[in-house]
Amino acid sequence: VSLQALNSFGIAARAAQLVRVRHEADVRDALADAELAAPGKFVLGGGSNIVLTGDVKATVLKVEVPGRRIVGQTERHTLVEAGAGENWHDFVAWTLDQGLPGLENLALIPGTVGASPVQNIGAYGLELQDRFHELDAIDLHTGERFTLDAAQCGFGYRDSVFKHHAAHDGDFGLAGRALILRVRFALPRAWQPVLGYLDLERKMQEEGVHQPSARQIFDWIVAIRRAKLPDPAVIGNAGSFFKNPTVTPEQCQDIIGRDPHVVHYPMPDGSVKLAAGWLIDACGWKGKSVGNAAVYDKQALVLVNRGGRQHPATGGEVMTLAKAIQTSVYERFGIRLEPEPVVV
Ligand code: EPU
Repeated sequence: VSLQALNSFGIAARAAQLVRVRHEADVRDALADAELAAPGKFVLGGGSNIVLTGDVKATVLKVEVPGRRIVGQTERHTLVEAGAGENWHDFVAWTLDQGLPGLENLALIPGTVGASPVQNIGAYGLELQDRFHELDAIDLHTGERFTLDAAQCGFGYRDSVFKHHAAHDGDFGLAGRALILRVRFALPRAWQPVLGYLDLERKMQEEGVHQPSARQIFDWIVAIRRAKLPDPAVIGNAGSFFKNPTVTPEQCQDIIGRDPHVVHYPMPDGSVKLAAGWLIDACGWKGKSVGNAAVYDKQALVLVNRGGRQHPATGGEVMTLAKAIQTSVYERFGIRLEPEPVVV
């Protein structure tokens, strides 16, 4: 089975076996089937946050669980649920159609609902964890269904328990072990817009709006993202390729001493977050390439597949380019950039 249409980079890897999961029972059937079970399992959602560096030997479980519904209300929240296979952006649009604001800052993020907790998607001042209630998943080792709340998901910046492998030191990890079936969100009944992000403030000034509606914010975010980020349907990519690094105030002062323009944001815990895109840009990477893997010319944090469907970049080219970027940023700033997508 070709995976090229199933990963947003458009990398031409293959899988020996692929099972489409629409219901919980599909997972149990796959687990019970000796032929499918033997090579191990790889859970695939929208494929928008992975880099395939070779063919996938494990049985691919492509999550297509459908469904969107309003579950009920608590004193402060409306609870909504979506199947893991639902498209994220369509789900956000649907909540607004139901008159339920709260997810608008996360408009146009590629991928599926089921993948959204894995990297705790975030944009324009909001993270998934701010609206998350709980999720249902299946344990691929035992076939049992279980439910996790926000604390159990271990959310961090572009991080969760689903990105970590269970380690010897007692680290609780569910990477490769959990298949997310459904996610429930808690949307605030007393909605307040999440503003403050520079690009959003600029839109408000341009349009002379002081109290934007959720729908307006949704439309602005869609416009901002379209202007800055490549549409994966047109140019293959996996969004930001590196996380924004955090440094101590002393490290930041040191960098400011040499590069006064470095984009930095003080964090509530006293550390300082740096814009990785700025660091990469400052090293002159915009537009540079390795084979058909290239640095996007409007946002240096995004690596793209310049070869399209016909001559796609290989996972090896993407990783070679990524390593070269890491080396040059380290040599100039002494900072190690960490990849953001899952490297398979
Ligand atoms: N910048 C440059 N040159 C560049 C890129 C960025 O100078 O080539 C500067 C920008 O001018 C700006 C700063 O760096 O001052 C930050 O850029 P931007 O606002 O575009 O956001 P980002 O930090 O690069 C993060 C997320 C995005 C998210 C945006 C908006 C990460 C890894 N990325 O990007 O998430 O959409 O903020 O909230 O945290 C993703 O994870 O895939 C993603 C796209």
